[in-house]
Amino acid sequence: MSVVVAIDGPSGSGKSTVARGVADALGLDVLDTGAMYRAVTQAVLARGADPHDAAACAQIARDVAVDLGERVLLDGVDVTSAIRGPEVTGAVSTVSAHPEVRSVLVDRQRSWVEARHGGVVEGRDIGTVVFSDATVKVFLTASDDERARRRQRDEHDAQREVDVAEVRDDLARRDHLDSSRQSSPLKAAPDAEAMDTTGRSVTEVVDHIVQRVRAATKAD
Ligand code: DC
Repeated sequence: MSVVVAIDGPSGSGKSTVARGVADALGLDVLDTGAMYRAVTQAVLARGADPHDAAACAQIARDVAVDLGERVLLDGVDVTSAIRGPEVTGAVSTVSAHPEVRSVLVDRQRSWVEARHGGVVEGRDIGTVVFSDATVKVFLTASDDERARRRQRDEHDAQREVDVAEVRDDLARRDHLDSSRQSSPLKAAPDAEAMDTTGRSVTEVVDHIVQRVRAATKAD
């Protein structure tokens, strides 16, 4: 039986760190679907296309090859840092709101998991749409302050210094766009466990999810 762990939540909720910890503990691969949307957005901007043009964005999503490993490769070019930069972060919610773009990337996400017979998948619509029958679904949240602090730390680690108020505004803007869009908005699946990661250690959150997966797979 293939094990799929769906980890959804807004930016800064701890998804990536938790997803990696769960994947390591269970010997699974992890798929960062946000990196896929970011890579397509990078291609849209590099080709001078309009992020609001659904047809153009979908065509680009179909045309490009995105490899997600240690590094993120877009048509063979390393875009790991570029996709975290302000230009892509500013446009990714617009590009990812197009259902035409989503359908291309959702197909790729399903193929990725199928090829590996399972995996830990993180994003916004994994438990609701992409893997609505996932083995375990969690929806991570954290307080606005904590999320802004984490994002600021990530930016600092990437040698980009940003003001915490600026980060907080960007998070609020993206939360609004990602949650209010028509197609697969950011929301918890009815059968997802909501976990607030504020003030909780990564180990504690990871261990809890791993126990749930073990219990779910033992019951089968
Ligand atoms: O997880 P992230 O911040 O890197 O994601 C970047 C953007 O991609 C996010 O603002 C919304 C979009 N996204 C999405 O629409 N669906 C997903 N499954 C993952 C990300």
